[in-house]
This record gives sequence, C-alpha cells and structure tokens, in this order.
Amino acid sequence: MEWIEIGPDDATSTRIAALAEQIAHHSHLYYNEATPEISDTEFDALWDELKSLDSNHPQLRRVGAPVPPGSVKVVHRFPMRSLDKATSDDEVAHFVAETTAHGRRFVAQPKLDGSALSLEYRRGRLIRAATRGSGERGEDVTSNALRIPNIPDRLLWGGDCHIRGEVVMHLDVFRSKYADIAPNPRNLAAGSLRQKNVKAGKGDASDLTFYAYDVHFVPDEGKHPDSPEALQFENDSESIAWLREVGITPAEEVVIEGAEDEDTTKSLLVETERWTQSRATASWELDGVVFKLDNLAKRELLGQTAHHPRWALAWKFPPEEATTVLLGIDWQTGRTGAVTPVSRVAPVVVSGVTVENTTLHNVGEVERLGISIGDKVRIVRRGDVIPKIIESLGAAQASDLESRFHANGEPFTGGLPDSKPPQIPTDCPECDTKLRLDGAFLRCSNISCPARLTRSILYWCRALEMDGIGEKLVEQLCDAGLVKTTPDIYRLTSEELQGLERMAEKSATNVMNQLDSTRELALDIFLSALGLPGIGPELATAFAGEICTMATLLTLTEDDIERLVAIEGVGETVVQSLMSGIMDRSQILEDFNQILTITDVARTEAPSGPLVGFSFCITGTLSRPRKEIALKIKAAGGKVVSTVSGKLDFLVAGENAGTKLEKATRLGVKVLSEVDWETMLQP
Ligand code: IVH
Repeated sequence: MEWIEIGPDDATSTRIAALAEQIAHHSHLYYNEATPEISDTEFDALWDELKSLDSNHPQLRRVGAPVPPGSVKVVHRFPMRSLDKATSDDEVAHFVAETTAHGRRFVAQPKLDGSALSLEYRRGRLIRAATRGSGERGEDVTSNALRIPNIPDRLLWGGDCHIRGEVVMHLDVFRSKYADIAPNPRNLAAGSLRQKNVKAGKGDASDLTFYAYDVHFVPDEGKHPDSPEALQFENDSESIAWLREVGITPAEEVVIEGAEDEDTTKSLLVETERWTQSRATASWELDGVVFKLDNLAKRELLGQTAHHPRWALAWKFPPEEATTVLLGIDWQTGRTGAVTPVSRVAPVVVSGVTVENTTLHNVGEVERLGISIGDKVRIVRRGDVIPKIIESLGAAQASDLESRFHANGEPFTGGLPDSKPPQIPTDCPECDTKLRLDGAFLRCSNISCPARLTRSILYWCRALEMDGIGEKLVEQLCDAGLVKTTPDIYRLTSEELQGLERMAEKSATNVMNQLDSTRELALDIFLSALGLPGIGPELATAFAGEICTMATLLTLTEDDIERLVAIEGVGETVVQSLMSGIMDRSQILEDFNQILTITDVARTEAPSGPLVGFSFCITGTLSRPRKEIALKIKAAGGKVVSTVSGKLDFLVAGENAGTKLEKATRLGVKVLSEVDWETMLQP
C-alpha cells in the first residue's frame, strides 16, 4: 500500500501563518512593550486556535524576544540565597533548638544535586528563566528552559510569580547518552542550561528535568495590573500542593512535626537515614536533605543572614567511603594516546553501587598515591559518578576480602594477590610503541595505534550523534580491516556492513543513513568531533571562529600562532596542542577534506574599544562585583586573565588586595585603582 502524506490544505496553512504572525505581534506588545492591544481572553483564543491547528508550531514555544542563553544578566527580584549546611546529628539538633520558638513543623525535601533555576511567570506565561548566578543576578536562559519538557510555558493560573527549583539530568539519561563526555550529571545540567546553541556532543536541555522547591508571588504594587492578586499561603506545604495544581513538578516533600525538640530532631534524622538508604536507587543525584520551617509567617520572623535563611538547613551526606583491596592495575590507551591506569579492586559497595574498577587518572596519580598491588585502599565516591582511590592503608589481610560479591551477584572467590609495586609500562599495551612521559601522562604517539583508532572513531560518532555506531560495531570494522582511519567510515558500503556478524540490512541502512547525514558539516563541528588532545568543544568553536575555513586550517603555520593566542580564553599551550594535533593528522585531515563537505564558519568579531590589546587582572574588594568589572573590560575590547605574570598589562586592585598586588609590584606591572581604570574606559 502506498501512503500519501496529507498536510494542511491551503486555507489552513494561511490561517496558521496569520495566527502565528498575530501572536508574535501581540506577544511583543505584551512582553517587551507592556502595551497590550487586546485582552487576555482574545490572546488566549488566538493561542488556542493555533494550538488546535498545529500543536507543534514554534510560535507556541516563543515568548517575548528570545536572547542567546548567557548573554543577558537578570537581576533576581527575590534573591536566591544559599542554605546553611550540617553534616552531624548535633547540628540538626541545634537547628531544631534555634527555631523551636517558631514551631516544630518542617518540610523535608531531597537536596537535588543539579543547577538552580528561577522561572518568572507573568500573567501565567513564562517570560524569563534565569540561573542562580551570584544569587542577586543570574543569566537569562529562557530559550533553553523552554526546551525542558516538564517546564510549562503557561501555568494553570494567570498571575505573576517566580518559581525556583533545581534542574537535574536523570541518571538513566546521563548513563545512556553522556557518561563519556561529562564527569557527572550536575555539570551537564549546568552546561546544557547555559549553552548558546544545541550542538552535537554537548548536553541538550530537552534531556533535563525541573523540580521546584519554592515560589514567590509578586506583590500587588509590582505585578501586572491585569494579573490576579498575589496568593498567600499559611504554610510552605500548601504552596507545594498549589505548584502541583498549576502544572509544576515539585521536589517530593514530607512534612515532619514533633512535640518536643528531642523527638523532632529524631524524626528529622530518620528522614536523613531514609534518604541515605534511597540514594542509590533514586533516579537523580542528591547530596543531602533540606529541612525548612513549614509556617511561612514564622519564616519571616526568623529572617536571614546575608548568606542563608535562618529557617532552613541543608543536611549533607558524608562523602561515601569504603575500603577494599587493590588487585591489579590495567593500562588502557585512549583516543588522544594517553595511557590511563585503571585499578581492579575486590568488589565493594559504595553508596549502593558495586565498585570493581576505579580510574587512577594518570601515571602521576599512581606515583602520588604510592600504592602497591595487594594494598588495602580507601575509596571515596562523592557526588561524582566515578569512584576513586584516595589512600593506601598498607598491605591487606585476607579478612579484608570477606563476604564480597560481584555486581552480578556472584560471590568473589579470588584470594589476596601477591604484594608488589605497580608495573609502569614502557610500551603501549596495544601497539607496543615506546611510550613517552608528557607531564603526569604516559602517551602513545603512534597515530595509527588500534586503541586510539577505535576510541577516535567512537568520539567522532558520538560528537555527531550517530547513535547506531557503537563500540561493538567499531571494533568489528577495525578488526575486519575495513576501517584503518576515521575517514574510512565514509567509504563503507552497505554490502560490507551486511557482511559483518549480526548486521541485518535494516541496521546497515540505518548506519549508512547516519553516515550520509554527516557528510556535510561546519568547521567548528568538524574540529570538535576530531577530538584533538586538549581541544574540547568550546575551544574548537573558539578556534573555528578565527580560522573560518578548512583551507586555512590545512595551511596553518607558525605565523598563525600569534592571532590564535589572541583569541579570548586561549593560551599558548592550547594553541600548541592544536598545531601539533593538526600536524600529526595532516594526512587524515586532507582525506576528510576530500570525502566530506566542510563548510565555513563566520569570523567571531574582533574585539573593539579603548582597551583592545591590553590585559587586565582584577583583585581586592571593589565597589561592584569583579564579574561586572570583567564584563566591562571585555566589552571595551580588553582581555581579562586570572593570574599575574610579567606579561600582564594592568592589575585593577581594590581594598585588601593581597598576594596579587605584591606580585604585580615585584614584576613591575602597572597597578590601577578603580577610578584610574574607569578613566581608561573613556574613549
Ligand atoms: S530550598 C533559601 N530545597 O541547594 C534557599 N534548595 O545550597 C531555598 N537545592 O541554591 C532553597 N534542592 O539550588 C532548596 N529541595 C531543595 C533543594 C535546594 C537543591 C539547592 C538550591 C540552592 C542550594 C543551596
């Protein structure tokens, strides 16, 4: 049977376009000009009609004028404060005693380990989303927040409020899509929220989830005149219930109430114990439990310090530790040629996860720890997913191996290994090339090393989101000799793929389609997917903004170093990494250039202004935040660095400037007061 795709007829398409145009016009008047021409009801009718005709229309996801995430500062109408922290039972008892005059009923929620986000709703519509930033001012990330599936662009209430919560990446999403490119889900949550455009190989905001913990209603004098009155709840637990009713997902909460200080403290500690037990099976990472006085009027009475409210406490999990026995060290060659030591340890449960391997990072770490095979070792698993060895406790005893189980439930039957110092390899474990020491790393410099090849291909495919090409397939392709360099994957034929074990026609077609969809790509994406040592996606983008074309990339010489070092955030070391990365791969780059269409990227605008060519470092207490001064320097074309060296042009020093001022004076760097610096800004 043949399917004919039925799209909207002409009349409907015209209506959709007209509705989108009207909504854009009225949104602009409403959000940006604050001079609406039509009533809320009329606007809603337009909105609903567009939704009924084309529920996915992009205009339905757009509010006001979208700005690139991170480019605009937002002053928080209600500051986003920190929390006072506790790690011991005594501190929890102290908190109860301090708040006892105001009642003993608390809301308890998990302390989610993600990135804080503030959502501003005006007349029920999401008009702005901002990161926490300094707590006083954050960054506008509205367009990314709108991509988070459980953040509604409209509340089921038409008023003005600010909803706060934590954005997290669920662990199953992290493990299946991102475990190779980011150290933990928290970093990804923060990165995906702030990134300017959705790029291959980076976190995507549509993979995040928002859990609310707080709401502030805009008082009548500040709210939109047509908005309903600010709501007033007696208790926080009621505002959490209200959040659920209007379409927001709150972090799960329980209300705990006691009659005396002692039993209240006990109940709070039971809650910390409950979360300690559930931590390992929770779908997101949490780093503790937050307790907040439930009664909102009493919160007002308690007030806050400059740092935290007195009515809340964050109880934090102790860093999780365990001891086990080091059974051996394996050395693995990675994509960049770095040879990484990975420890094999007797299985041990740390925060509910059975650990049998830990990364030892590099040869320098092995030497620093001074560990030997057969040692009893301490391992710790902080918020991070990857556990690490932090100390050797000397030679292990047989009793250190008692009642151990592998992750698959099988008992551990191995005995104590012979005690011996680790063997640091001199040759690559994959290709036998002599290794060289590069700082704390051992490196294999053979660009065709099989381990490097498979890792590079996988990095390339992940960066370009070719999900159908996984580790197994890449190994099969390399083993069969079908692929000898990364560009070779674009020479594969469907027949060759089908000749591989367990590769049916459908999967082969899928792989071919994925390869075809990446035959044309922009220079920044290309440079990023190459995965040159030391050049992550951000640096790749920065370099591409200066290099612009593939032809220039292929002909870079020593003469280009100067202009590359001039790029904001780029130092000589990374330029050297780029140059040697390119030099080592000149053949491969030529080959890619033949087989792919690598499109130009626009030049990142050269800075301009009175401070062009000058570098600044900022220290001491100044009349405004250092970040603000740094932004002004950058806007005037200057470069801001964090350390004082002989090459620095100016040190802007405020009160109580310490070692940086001493060093600058010693090195003869010119020191500016805030007033001197402001004078420089005058054109
Ligand atoms: S209440 C006045 N509840 O922890 C502060 N915060 O260390 C109100 N956090 O920046 C915050 N889970 O982003 C609260 N259930 C929860 C939380 C939570 C995570 C974060 C929050 C805040 C940080 C403070």
